[in-house]
Amino acid sequence: MDDRPSSHAALLQRAREAAGGSQGPAERLQTICRLLRDGLAGYDWVGFYLVDPAADRSLVLGPYEGEPTEHTRIPFGRGICGQAAERGETVVVDDVSQESNYLACSTAVQSEIVVPVYHGGSLVGELDIDSHRSARFGPEDRAFVEAVAGISAPLVAALAAQESGCRSGTNGLHG
Ligand code: SME
Repeated sequence: MDDRPSSHAALLQRAREAAGGSQGPAERLQTICRLLRDGLAGYDWVGFYLVDPAADRSLVLGPYEGEPTEHTRIPFGRGICGQAAERGETVVVDDVSQESNYLACSTAVQSEIVVPVYHGGSLVGELDIDSHRSARFGPEDRAFVEAVAGISAPLVAALAAQESGCRSGTNGLHG
């Protein structure tokens, strides 16, 4: 049961197809989250955080698959997500119990990877994955998740801009 049901290469191809679909960016990112969570053992929570263009150095929760989280807004610098945003580079934590700057979503989580998402040279969001297994994210996973982040970048940028417009009321025709 615990075997990996899908290969990284096959999932990457399916993620590419999902990213190029005809739905809106939120739906397409949701599909990508679902592909990863369903396709890979130990990818227990898979979600995107968006850089909020209307706030100062702040991440806001986007599409995700897994248990609901209380961490819907995270300032740069806080938790693993905030550290990855501040450094602008991938952060892998093999044992979250050893990390002092960590925001717990569930006591079941043991390891985490957070990959920054860049579009047009700017940080637009992050792809965050939690595992109930320790040290779940090795070098192959890192390369895979970074590739998925790259595929997702235009969608993350579009959704961040769209959500910001909705919140500030400047995009009344959004829908
Ligand atoms: N653990 C993250 C918070 C987000 S949840 O994992 C969904 C962190 O420390 O930033």
